[in-house]
Amino acid sequence: MIERTREQSLEALSWLVDAGADEAIGEAPVNRLKAGNADTSSPLTRRAISAPPARGAPPSPTRGEGNKAAEAVSLSTAPGAARALAASSNNLSELKTALENFDGCELKKHATTTVFADGNPLGRIMLIGEAPGRDEDIQGLPFIGRAGKLLDLMLASIGLDRTKVYITNVLNWRPPQNRDPSPEEAAACLPFLHRHIELAEPQIIILLGAVAARHVLGTSEGIMRLRGKWETYQSAGLNRAIPVMPTLHPAYLLRQASAKRLAWRDLLTVREKIEQLGLA
Ligand code: URA
Repeated sequence: MIERTREQSLEALSWLVDAGADEAIGEAPVNRLKAGNADTSSPLTRRAISAPPARGAPPSPTRGEGNKAAEAVSLSTAPGAARALAASSNNLSELKTALENFDGCELKKHATTTVFADGNPLGRIMLIGEAPGRDEDIQGLPFIGRAGKLLDLMLASIGLDRTKVYITNVLNWRPPQNRDPSPEEAAACLPFLHRHIELAEPQIIILLGAVAARHVLGTSEGIMRLRGKWETYQSAGLNRAIPVMPTLHPAYLLRQASAKRLAWRDLLTVREKIEQLGLA
């Protein structure tokens, strides 16, 4: 074992964090390149250590190919199964349980918890973000990390807080490394979100960021074009159109402080609507 100074260890740790590592999965490091240490379940190492096929034998499928048929079935049936489960949920608590029991979304395999919602389910304003991050995955509640703290300040600027609004995400499980969800992952979660909206019966929906705007409004238009203008969400179950305000995601505002003035304008527009609808 190489002896390291504290500074060298910190430097190595900082390198790992910069490279995207955000979780410790073992007490001691493992050199997977050393003979005998290879993790045979890893797609990266499996190809390297498997024996070459005998001459004339059909090529054995790679890990990806071998699982394709099974994956195709689950990927194609997941949205249908999600729709059936969501539709059979008669209230928010049943919907939460249905999600916790649903195994049709790949993201769940990597996540610690199912993140359902926070805030007041009776609040008439529903906020929809993208997906849980690291803090949310650990604590099981949406928007409680740095972006959530900024969201709280944004809400407070127009007289709102979590006792008055209801908050959820398009995805209920954290994507590894906070990457964008794949279309299949989103498709497996969307039926739950649609039912979530029906059961929560909001009078106003605020969409936080591009992913929420894309999936809730079903548009490929960028968030910079969509933000600040009222759109509508047609809920089949509620039989009415709900006004929707797309705005910038607080995580984006943490990186682009100059964009806060745009979000502020959007929030003022929401405030006007709240007053118009007598929700204040
Ligand atoms: N970002 C989101 O979109 N949702 C969360 O819950 C946290 C961060």
